[in-house]
Amino acid sequence: MEFVGSHILSVDQFDRSDIEQIFAVADDMQPYAHRTRITRVLQGAILSNMFFESSTRTRVSFGCAFNLLGGEVRETTEIKSSAIAKGESLHDMARVLSGYSDVIVMRHPAEGSVKEFAEASRVPVINGGDGSNEHPTQALLDLYTIRKELEDRGDAIDGLRIAVVGDLRYGRAVHSLLKLLALFDNISVNLVSPPDLTAPLDSVRDLENKGHRVETFQNLEDGVNHVDILYVTRTQEERFPSQEEADRYRGLFRINQTIYTEHCEPNTVIMHPLPRDSRAAAQELDDDLNANPNLAIFRQTDNGVLIRMALFSLILDVADGVHDHAQPVTWFTARRTPRTLG
Ligand code: CP
Repeated sequence: MEFVGSHILSVDQFDRSDIEQIFAVADDMQPYAHRTRITRVLQGAILSNMFFESSTRTRVSFGCAFNLLGGEVRETTEIKSSAIAKGESLHDMARVLSGYSDVIVMRHPAEGSVKEFAEASRVPVINGGDGSNEHPTQALLDLYTIRKELEDRGDAIDGLRIAVVGDLRYGRAVHSLLKLLALFDNISVNLVSPPDLTAPLDSVRDLENKGHRVETFQNLEDGVNHVDILYVTRTQEERFPSQEEADRYRGLFRINQTIYTEHCEPNTVIMHPLPRDSRAAAQELDDDLNANPNLAIFRQTDNGVLIRMALFSLILDVADGVHDHAQPVTWFTARRTPRTLG
């Protein structure tokens, strides 16, 4: 695809070469994301970061990514603090924000809303998650993490064995990830969910039609055997028709160190798009896994900055100029050695 000036609304836009291009630019962003070098390649550019649904990592990492490239970030969070609360349409808001910004990231609870917004926007729009539909940048950072974790052990994404566990019906990160995996070769996917929370049929058909192996499980212990990646998700309570219905699924699948030791392979990588639900009744990914070196959840969040820097660079056509504007930093070591308090 032509990245320059493009919206990023769905992973359907990408083919394998696009993904390789994003990952190559993300690799290049490491010194800047790790703050060992500074670049100002986007100096003067403005990002409008519009999050009409709760978020920690997507909102902050998009903002950090833009700042790390030298740009400025303006944020609106929650519908009630925007003019949507006064009845403004997505069309009008898009036209207004296009006049203030060079790129816009939007998260919105309604499926298709970011696409509708983008149709009226005069600057590129990136989907930060639209209802239970898609979360394209999460899937890209997940796939980038999978690639890195496998590379460390001499493997590639082709031939991957993955178990995807939890709420596969409403989980937008899963929807996008399954579509991306379908672009590769010889993938084995174990879909582990309660019967009412299965993955969308078109995602399963797409994988099968492209020759991948898909198996469905309702039993956690059976589904997590013999996989390279164990991708766990939270029950998306906010998408259920009622809290009572969501509560029926809370705590149904819990991965802890005992389950991992007894049913996974010793080097299975554990992933989760986060947030994990650490409340006592849920705990789909137990804190007792925190010391497990195969827990990659915080490597995923770190990789999110790289992927989002790469997308901004490609869309705003500065990927080749990043290093020209680079300088070393002097404060980095001090930042990494905090004094002990008390
Ligand atoms: N993974 C993810 O989208 O997290 P946030 O909801 O915190 O942005």
